[in-house]
Amino acid sequence: YTLAVIVPAAGVGSRMQHSAPKQYIRLAGKTILEHTLAKLAQLKQATSIIVAVSDDDPYFDSLAFIDQRIVRASGGKERADSVLNGLLALADNPPDWVLVHDAARPLVTLADVEHLLTECISANEGGILACKVKDTIKRGSTHSEQTVPRDDLWQALTPQLFKYHDLTQALQSALAQQVTITDEASAIEWAKKPVKLVAGRSDNIKITTPEDLDLANFLLQKQHS
Ligand code: CTP
Ligand code: MG
Repeated sequence: YTLAVIVPAAGVGSRMQHSAPKQYIRLAGKTILEHTLAKLAQLKQATSIIVAVSDDDPYFDSLAFIDQRIVRASGGKERADSVLNGLLALADNPPDWVLVHDAARPLVTLADVEHLLTECISANEGGILACKVKDTIKRGSTHSEQTVPRDDLWQALTPQLFKYHDLTQALQSALAQQVTITDEASAIEWAKKPVKLVAGRSDNIKITTPEDLDLANFLLQKQHS
């Protein structure tokens, strides 16, 4: 099979409330985006690593050059638009499979990514890393109205792996019909195609708010020691 990687990195990081977009915050010696790209570059079988970056982003081109396979593409308005731009950048020579991974998840392990690839490619189905919800989950606005049964609840992580053509078609038609798409799997579900749930490590966190930074810094340092 052939494989390409797409990294959506065109967000502004509004919840982080930092001057630069959060993917450019330095933790454990380099930016979050450089940590993420260094992890993905360990995938020897990937032929290209497309990074969707905002056109007015002044930071990306001055990052340390990590790998020959890294290509800059244009970001879009929403995450799904950024991913679709990445897919279209591959249209001339499409791979069989695409692995989509958030720039904001530098803690992913190569072992988890390899596990996702093995499970999905052997089953010939797309899928995602996910972890079982651990906390008791409540529904309500000011008071809890209900405790939600969590036996079949998962937290979606990235990477998410799908066939190139399945994902491109699903995203294009879902976006055209203004369906809310928060990850690749939501577009594939909407297209009524299977999404395999592959258990991944729960410390593969998406760095989102300031309180995530100390934990991510600690975990990155631990991975490098
Ligand atoms: N992303 C993107 N294009 C967008 C929005 C988000 O490529 N238009 C990327 C982000 O850079 C990030 C990933 O999608 O790597 C996950 O999104 P999120 O954590 O929501 O990041 P931001 O959108 O930057 O943060 P916020 O929602 O707090 O503004
Ligand atoms: Mg966002």
